[in-house]
Amino acid sequence: MSENYLKFLRTRRSIRIFKPEPISDELIMKILDIARFAPSAGNRQPWEFIVVKRKNLLNRLSRIHRSAKPIARAPLAIVVICDKRLSPISYHVDCANTAMYIMLAAHALGLGTVWIQSLRNIEEIQKILNIPSDKVPIAIIAVGWPAEKPEPRPRKPLNELVHENTYS
Ligand SMILES: Cc1cc2nc3c(=O)[nH]c(=O)nc-3n(C[C@H](O)[C@H](O)[C@H](O)COP(=O)(O)O)c2cc1C
Repeated sequence: MSENYLKFLRTRRSIRIFKPEPISDELIMKILDIARFAPSAGNRQPWEFIVVKRKNLLNRLSRIHRSAKPIARAPLAIVVICDKRLSPISYHVDCANTAMYIMLAAHALGLGTVWIQSLRNIEEIQKILNIPSDKVPIAIIAVGWPAEKPEPRPRKPLNELVHENTYS
């Protein structure tokens, strides 16, 4: 079981090309149900989720920058929004945790995801999705049935990353 779980973590890939098939609401809710279990500072859970399915909204989100195009090819996107008043110090990391849970839950269900950068376009995304200014879109996650099987992206070798006791 634990080896399988480690393999599961190792085999997640960012997926940017999706089949046109829709995803049932039941699966989406299953993923978001798991997202609630991510850790957060003081267990404040400063996150909320917007499930975007409407084509014209997906298209607008896909144009916020050059690397956002996968959103236009996905049947839906989940926008993780974070209440910065609820967790002023940690809201970014809290919501990154729940975003990762979403990606892993989707992977467990055979769905593909890619995290789309949102932090340079916060106001634009707030405008497109009618999000109040105190709720920050931390991540846009395009979700769909994978239509590609990308090679693993390179990773830095472990010996360049690990320090013992002190940095040097
Ligand atoms: C904060 C963050 C922002 C990212 N932004 C984008 C993006 O805008 N467009 C995109 O196609 N991929 C984006 N990615 C996905 C990364 O490119 C991808 O995770 C990385 O290349 C490693 O590949 P892998 O996820 O397949 O292991 C983003 C990932 C993170 C964590």
